[in-house]
Amino acid sequence: MNNLLHQKKGIIFGALDQSSIAWKVALKAKEAGAEFILSNAPVALRMGTIQKLAQITDSKVIGADATSQDDIENLFEESRQILGGKFDFILHSIGMSPNVRKKKHYTELNYDWYHKTLDISAMSFHKILQCLYQKEHMNKKGSILALTYIAAQRVFPDYGDMADAKALLESITRSFGYHFGKKNGVRVNTISQSPTPTTAGSGVKGFEDFLSFAQKMSPLGNASAEDCAQYCLSLFSDYTQMVTMQNLYHDGGFSAMGVTPDVLA
Ligand SMILES: NC(=O)c1ccc[n+]([C@@H]2O[C@H](COP(=O)([O-])OP(=O)(O)OC[C@H]3O[C@@H](n4cnc5c(N)ncnc54)[C@H](O)[C@@H]3O)[C@@H](O)[C@H]2O)c1
Repeated sequence: MNNLLHQKKGIIFGALDQSSIAWKVALKAKEAGAEFILSNAPVALRMGTIQKLAQITDSKVIGADATSQDDIENLFEESRQILGGKFDFILHSIGMSPNVRKKKHYTELNYDWYHKTLDISAMSFHKILQCLYQKEHMNKKGSILALTYIAAQRVFPDYGDMADAKALLESITRSFGYHFGKKNGVRVNTISQSPTPTTAGSGVKGFEDFLSFAQKMSPLGNASAEDCAQYCLSLFSDYTQMVTMQNLYHDGGFSAMGVTPDVLA
């Protein structure tokens, strides 16, 4: 990895188990010389295997419900003390929809759950950005990333209310990207990733069929979680300091395709 992230410090949200995209990012970031804190919701700390990742990457775990401003504030304060400085990179790899999980059709949404979907999957990003911004936690020219999906632009019926959450997430990225760029050159971007077999991904109805459809539609095939981690690293590195407020497709070409003979066969 050529020490791509040598001396860079950051926070990685959302590693649940070894299939998580955030898990792969943590492994690659460690290889590239970064130091970071791992965070996840308290329930995920109990149910997942994040402590194993902490051991492998020699990092600390701090629990935080990303919908709680208090948890986020505490996490950043503690992390700065442990890491001994401000942050250079942040990964928001957080998503959950009670409606999708409980197979509620988009035309029959439970609105309490809809609030939860938006709060966990999108507004949490605003809360994280706002705390980083107000408390001046980011180093100059740092990089903040969130993960999204193309259902924000096009209709994938079984993605349900997560599509709305991703549209909000991408809008927050542009809006806050402006303010963070003006303040101290910090970049804010989303990566729009291929369908990937993880706990969150597999919760979407018909996921396996969809995975194979996307594979056929993409000239490079589906991007894996490891591929995604490498792309994240490039965006945390000093090689992408002028990229901000973008939704960057990382999908093997899927987003540019209309049809392929493979899906017609
Ligand atoms: N898997 C896919 O097909 C796919 C495709 C495109 C984008 N994404 C996005 O990638 C991101 C990571 O998902 P993943 O696929 O690695 O699945 P994952 O299930 O491993 O990760 C989702 C994470 O969100 C965390 N989370 C849920 N509620 C939380 C809360 N209140 N506070 C803090 N953390 C909370 C979970 O504990 C989990 O670690 C998500 O934003 C997801 O929408 C996934």
